[in-house]
Amino acid sequence: MTTLFKNIKELIQIRAEGTTFISGAEMKTLPTIKNAFLVVDNGLISDFGDMENCPTQHFSKVIDASGKMLLPSWCDSHTHIVYAGNREGEFVDRINGLTYEEIANNGGGILNSAKKLQETSEEDLYIQSKARLEEVIQLGTGAVEIKSGYGLTEDAELKMLRVIKRLKENYNIPIKATFLGAHAVPANYKNNKAAYLDMLIKDVIPKVATENLAEYIDIFCETGYFSVEDTKLILEAGKKYGLTPKIHVNQFTAIGGVQAGVEFNALSVDHLEVVNPEDIEALKNTKTMPVALPSCSYFLSIPYTPARAILDAGLPLALATDYNPGSTPSGNMNFVVSTACIKMKMTPEEAINAATINGAYAMGLENEVGSITKGKLANLILTKPINSYGFIPYSFGNHQIDKVFLKGEEIF
Ligand code: NIG
Ligand code: FE
Repeated sequence: MTTLFKNIKELIQIRAEGTTFISGAEMKTLPTIKNAFLVVDNGLISDFGDMENCPTQHFSKVIDASGKMLLPSWCDSHTHIVYAGNREGEFVDRINGLTYEEIANNGGGILNSAKKLQETSEEDLYIQSKARLEEVIQLGTGAVEIKSGYGLTEDAELKMLRVIKRLKENYNIPIKATFLGAHAVPANYKNNKAAYLDMLIKDVIPKVATENLAEYIDIFCETGYFSVEDTKLILEAGKKYGLTPKIHVNQFTAIGGVQAGVEFNALSVDHLEVVNPEDIEALKNTKTMPVALPSCSYFLSIPYTPARAILDAGLPLALATDYNPGSTPSGNMNFVVSTACIKMKMTPEEAINAATINGAYAMGLENEVGSITKGKLANLILTKPINSYGFIPYSFGNHQIDKVFLKGEEIF
């Protein structure tokens, strides 16, 4: 099966093979070819270039992209899309004056979602989760990371991870799984956090690893949740089983989570709404990707990640949704890209780099997705007719997607 895209107004995000991530001032550049063609062979990008050099052989399918742009699908490196039910009641409570913290302290928040998930069958959880996965695919996401962390018991955490595994098997999109057992201390361990961590380390992590249910390990390193010491304990335990850290840090307070992540060679440190100069220093010359989640800042009305300080210090940055029932009930990467430009003062080039190649790196998929590179998966967004790629973030609250392709196959 071969597909030719011809007359592409602009082919966006062209990168040499082996590009891992883009940092600092280089993020201001988004390499493109105007009036281009692209060939897909067996699901992979096999050729592209100027229309002048467009091949003339027979193709199974030819798509005329006149007036339209073609770019790699969004790479969403941080989601919690496997969850049960919603929390719009808490949303209304917040409108009426309660804080996210007060709601959590009253048994709402993560514990509320955990209770719902524990009572939901694996089949029902799969059905609810696959609807969200299909929704984000239609919004242009072509690779995604999914976390556990709404189970908080051995059974429920493994149930979540098995649902992620089933999604991996049934959908034509790269999915990475992260074990986030240390997302909150469950009610039955309320005064005994150490025992909960011990249970995760002795009982759950070995099963997650031997059943191959996750690639990554996460913890919510935050005041009132898990300390830096707890974080090191969990990351050390994960390391023994080959689980690479990707962790929640600096959402509300900067307590040293970034430094702990760097110490354990975390693939990414995510949230970063509160960032100190020391955090920025700690990330320099490391392979740890900072990840911003602007939809979470929007929904909770908390500060946005200081992207300018991060990028102007020469660091890379990735953008992800954080799709979850409490802080971000949205998996729309188009909104994330717009919001990064509008609220974090990222340029369209920086935001698109952050949402594609850097997002791919933040989930270990930089050799498979995230750029127009020969040999990568043809997971692509074909836009509606637009004047320039700046129109993608500019038209916030909308999206400019005409069609999405996974491994070269049209999805809608
Ligand atoms: O990434 N911050 C920690 N966890 C989730 C939200 C948890 C919830 O409210 O359900 C997040 O924002
Ligand atoms: Fe999260």
